Amino acid sequence: MALLELRGVTRRFGGFTAVDQVSFSVEAGEFFTLLGPSGCGKTCILRMIAGFDRPDAGDILLDGASLAGLAPEARPFHTVFQNYALFPHMTVAQNVAFPLRMRGRDLGAVRVRVAEVLEMVALAPKAQQYPHELSGGQKQRVAVARALADLPRILLLDEPLGALDAKLREQMQVELIRLQRDIGITFIFVTHAQPEALALSHRIGVMRQGSIAQLDTPQRIYGNPVNRFVADFIGHCTLIAATVEAVEEDRLVLACDGLGRIEAPRNGAAHAGQRGTLSLRPEQLRIGAPGSHADLPNRAAGRILDLLYAGDVTTYIVECAGGLRLEALLANAAPGRTHAHEVGDAVEVAWSAAAGTYLHE
Ligand SMILES: Nc1ncnc2c1ncn2[C@@H]1O[C@H](COP(=O)(O)OP(=O)(O)O)[C@@H](O)[C@H]1O
Ligand SMILES: [Mg+2]
Repeated sequence: MALLELRGVTRRFGGFTAVDQVSFSVEAGEFFTLLGPSGCGKTCILRMIAGFDRPDAGDILLDGASLAGLAPEARPFHTVFQNYALFPHMTVAQNVAFPLRMRGRDLGAVRVRVAEVLEMVALAPKAQQYPHELSGGQKQRVAVARALADLPRILLLDEPLGALDAKLREQMQVELIRLQRDIGITFIFVTHAQPEALALSHRIGVMRQGSIAQLDTPQRIYGNPVNRFVADFIGHCTLIAATVEAVEEDRLVLACDGLGRIEAPRNGAAHAGQRGTLSLRPEQLRIGAPGSHADLPNRAAGRILDLLYAGDVTTYIVECAGGLRLEALLANAAPGRTHAHEVGDAVEVAWSAAAGTYLHE
């Protein structure tokens, strides 16, 4: 049985449906992420799980039993918010001890547990300091320690890393993964940042306008998006209008606007004559001198329109003969090399029949 299950959960505000019949299950020990653009209903769902808000329809179950009517403090969950919500007049240790003392645990036991969780988040030396003496990352770790203090069954995290700068955010991501693995508590994590979701999660529910568009592993969300919205939201891609010409055993033959005949992996929903979209990821494309990719079935001649140097990689924008623009990404592996082609160079872009995803929706 799943640890937590949402069944057709719906939340309306006046005539606006913020959460629309959302169903999913979270397994014990899972790092589960809700990912989607701002306003798609992520916080609403988390608040209903926590018990701060109630669904207008549907049910939320823990170990198969409905949570309806159960107050937030009676649910074995804790929530960590973006803004830390620490008490400024309490020390780190007092902040972490607070939920335990609220539950009437005896002082000796509280002291032991506080020391344990501060050790877990590597903040033992800061126990007697106040929140204003800590960095953003340290404050966030205090918030996590406090949420873990009385061993919740599920930790709910609402964009907890949103206020941190990029470098700190990456550090905290690594720490969250380690913490979740070591203590084995189930995490339900909410973010609008797709790299964060891909890096952290066992499974991701990609949300769009109150609904789950795709629920899958990070690898499948990235490699096999089910529709244009997911393909476009998760990482970079070029979307090209296409008509299915033929469905073969393991591949599709497409007629793509601006590219002509293109081979792509077979996709269950496709049938001949159907109009859809080909999605190409920049790292799937090769660039070389004209005529250098005779071994690959998909080729387009073009000219380098622009390049974006990012240190480890360079992204090239190639304009093809018909005006279509393709994005290709190459690693700058050779020492000292910043890019392999110049703006204006005539090149050939090519990719294998195994690259690309045909999307009907
Ligand atoms: N209390 C409320 N009253 C009216 N509208 C709300 C309320 N809470 C959330 N909403 C609306 O519901 C939608 C989803 O909100 P939210 O779950 O906070 O989005 P997210 O966390 O994904 O950014 C938004 O359009 C928001 O304006
Ligand atoms: Mg939110």
